[in-house]
Amino acid sequence: MIDNEFDAERKSSIAAMGADDTLREKSLDWLGHAQRHKYSYHFDWLGLPIIQYPQDVVAMQELVFALKPDMIIETGIARGGSAIFYASLLELNAICGGPADAEIVAIDVDIRTHNRIAIENHPLSKRLHMVQGSSVAPEIVEHIKVRAVGRKRVLVCLDSNHTHDHVLQELRAYAPLVTKDSYCVVFDTLIEDLPPDAIGQRPWRAGNNPLTAVRTYLQETDRFEIDVERHQKLQITVAKNGFLRCRST
Ligand SMILES: C[S@@+](CC[C@H](N)C(=O)[O-])C[C@H]1O[C@@H](n2cnc3c(N)ncnc32)[C@H](O)[C@@H]1O
Repeated sequence: MIDNEFDAERKSSIAAMGADDTLREKSLDWLGHAQRHKYSYHFDWLGLPIIQYPQDVVAMQELVFALKPDMIIETGIARGGSAIFYASLLELNAICGGPADAEIVAIDVDIRTHNRIAIENHPLSKRLHMVQGSSVAPEIVEHIKVRAVGRKRVLVCLDSNHTHDHVLQELRAYAPLVTKDSYCVVFDTLIEDLPPDAIGQRPWRAGNNPLTAVRTYLQETDRFEIDVERHQKLQITVAKNGFLRCRST
């Protein structure tokens, strides 16, 4: 099968999956169950815990390889697995024709000492610039904006505090840095669809989460559109309607 036939067939089967209500319900049912077992906490990337679903890790690999960003901004470091994941992709991109000077800038309000040591000792941390502070603090936002000056392709990943207000502030602060055709990926939009017992004692819940922030933000700007194909093909994802493609400069 030649490539464009393969691509066309893939596109049409993904669209069919997206229209399959039974599959959507089964996936959501599975996600709710898995969440009760803290499924997303069970994986490592190159030796560090990454608090992501494996499906989303593959999806982000596709995005980072296709975009070849020279800067990734991530909010929410935790134990560093995702920051090192992005660093490793930038390193691989560099040997696949991507920018040699690409970096990931990652922000967390609380970088615990043992996590900082493990991250800084990782061989791939050379591509990582860590910033401690709230992602929405004006001085942190300013620091990131200055660091983004001159960057040509910027990808933003929001994965810190998942309340509506916080994510909306992050969107307003960092989404404007996303360059045309790149993405702002908003994680944990899934919370909107989860039953309360799958969420536990958290400040976020249905009606107050990253998806509600995305909806509000998309009313404020027409720079972004939701790339539905990304979550339709994943089904098992925490970022349903969270892959925002930037359509203008
Ligand atoms: C879901 S975890 C991040 C997971 C990480 N991206 C990964 O994939 O391994 C959320 C992180 O956000 C951080 N956080 C919470 N509030 C924050 C804030 N206001 N600014 C920056 N980081 C924050 C927490 O300290 C926590 O480490």
